[in-house]
Amino acid sequence: MKILCISGPNLQLLGTREPQIYGTETLDQIHARLGTRASELGLGLEARQTNHEGTIIDWIGNARKEGFDGILINAGALSHTSLAIFDALRACALPCVEVHLSNPEAREEYRRTSMIAPACIGKVAGFGGDSYLLALEGLYKKTLGGLSPPHAPAGRAPHGR
Ligand code: DQA
Repeated sequence: MKILCISGPNLQLLGTREPQIYGTETLDQIHARLGTRASELGLGLEARQTNHEGTIIDWIGNARKEGFDGILINAGALSHTSLAIFDALRACALPCVEVHLSNPEAREEYRRTSMIAPACIGKVAGFGGDSYLLALEGLYKKTLGGLSPPHAPAGRAPHGR
């Protein structure tokens, strides 16, 4: 199984960008840790970054035919504004987790709305680079063959399928 991790505008600057908010880890370092965790889980991972909304939409739109089974997305500021990314996520119908390094809901008013959240199965925010890893765990456990819900009746098939 293969996961596509998308990071949007300005996230190439992680490491030096407002370190008091986003920490000092670079996006390459986060991607390296994410790749290691994906391998441990037996997953393939491709991590990409772009500053362009249309590129994100193209990546989401092509994800299924490229063989991806799920998406992690930190759309940066576009998370708060992009109906087009929301539509793309809905249209691709792959399980998607929204990711943020900071906790936008504890920041400025204009960051408190996510346009893309309703198209996602969940969201991880506020844990720096670890948000990406926690989102991968969540995606894996919830949809990709991870653990059954704790209340699953004994004897049930492990993945509830
Ligand atoms: C961010 C939060 C957004 O509000 C901001 O525009 C970003 C980064 C985060 O990861 O915390 O670019 O997505």
